[in-house]
Amino acid sequence: MRRLRLVLPLLAALAVLVPWWAARRDTANPAPAAAALNLAREQGRAIAALRADLAAYRAETARRREAATAPRERPAAADGAVRDAATPPRVRPAAAEPPPPPPPPDITFAHVINPMPAGHGLHADVEVTFAALARAAAYARARGVGVRLLTCEFAGEARIRRPAAFEPVANLTRHAFEAYELGRRGVAERRLPFVTEIFENAYRETEGARFLGYTNADIAVQEDFYVKAAAYAKASDAFVINRVEVDDKDANGRPYGPADLETLYALGRKRPQRHAGYDCFFWRRDRTPLVSLFVRNVFVGYPPVGRHVMEALRCVFGTKYREIRGAHHTFHLGDRNGGWSQHGQYEHMNRRAARLAPGPFRRVARCGAGGADAVAAAAAELRRAPFERWDVPGAEWPPREV
Ligand SMILES: *[C@@H]1O[C@H](CO)[C@@H](O)[C@H](O)[C@H]1NC(C)=O
Repeated sequence: MRRLRLVLPLLAALAVLVPWWAARRDTANPAPAAAALNLAREQGRAIAALRADLAAYRAETARRREAATAPRERPAAADGAVRDAATPPRVRPAAAEPPPPPPPPDITFAHVINPMPAGHGLHADVEVTFAALARAAAYARARGVGVRLLTCEFAGEARIRRPAAFEPVANLTRHAFEAYELGRRGVAERRLPFVTEIFENAYRETEGARFLGYTNADIAVQEDFYVKAAAYAKASDAFVINRVEVDDKDANGRPYGPADLETLYALGRKRPQRHAGYDCFFWRRDRTPLVSLFVRNVFVGYPPVGRHVMEALRCVFGTKYREIRGAHHTFHLGDRNGGWSQHGQYEHMNRRAARLAPGPFRRVARCGAGGADAVAAAAAELRRAPFERWDVPGAEWPPREV
């Protein structure tokens, strides 16, 4: 009896609890599964939405970056207005606002060279130059110094292969042999461009560059060249850098080439800077017409072209001109000078041109006068006559003066 009194409430309790527990199992179990499914669906939708927004953001960033780096190619205002009206408002991710696209690199240097045609005696040297300039430009860009690498050549000449970093400017149209009618003097034809045409072609296509540079095609540079040049450019409006002469072959007599840059950098740092010639020039681009006018009629390849370009910078920039000697920024393979054999008539013509050039310059400008008026006057004179042949006694061969 006593046992029954204890068992009955227990059975009663079980009768109530077991179905309740069973019912709870049946109803409670499917509920979390459905919630989880709904949650997963919602997460899926959110991820899809985020992806779409991210793609839209990336496309917009790319568009803005393109518009910022190529401002002259597209009329920004009109194009932008049409695009803005046509594009439906974008839904940005609800999360943190994405960072704005990075600013376009500030182009600081435009650097032009006139490479010799393929097969020229300095072919290998020019290959080293191409490799060294491309590497220095990439190094500089990674450190916030903008560099554009340019080439200026004659149409139709076989071209030495070059890295993709080089952009051609307008082709050359004039050369010394033709302009000075050297064929009538029985001189072998060399296609030697006028410095003015190289400078002017580069100048026309480099708006936005603060400095314009010109170096001989056989001058290579250390990897940090443009970073060092940027420091000089902060302190002066024009500078020239003297070169270091390095070995042109290794101990086994194998000539150095573009694959030997590391070795050449090390040699360039180790060998003394002794050479006094001028072959590396940088100046404020906006003054280029004055420089071009001062070097008018002088051509590449024969003395005194280097000294004359240096004289032009010294005249135009005065106290803001600087000559950098004893440093290890550029290098040249071997101690050969230029690649053309001696042809007296070319050198004679170039010396004559250099001696006469300051005359016409002084008619429209004067040394140290770098204002907008002087630049405009020089530009007008160059438009009138980018090359001006003189016809004076002494230009004949053999020369009369001693
Ligand atoms: C320069 O000449 C080359 C041929 O050597 C030609 O392909 C190129 O289009 C020319 N460049 C310009 C700007 O005319």
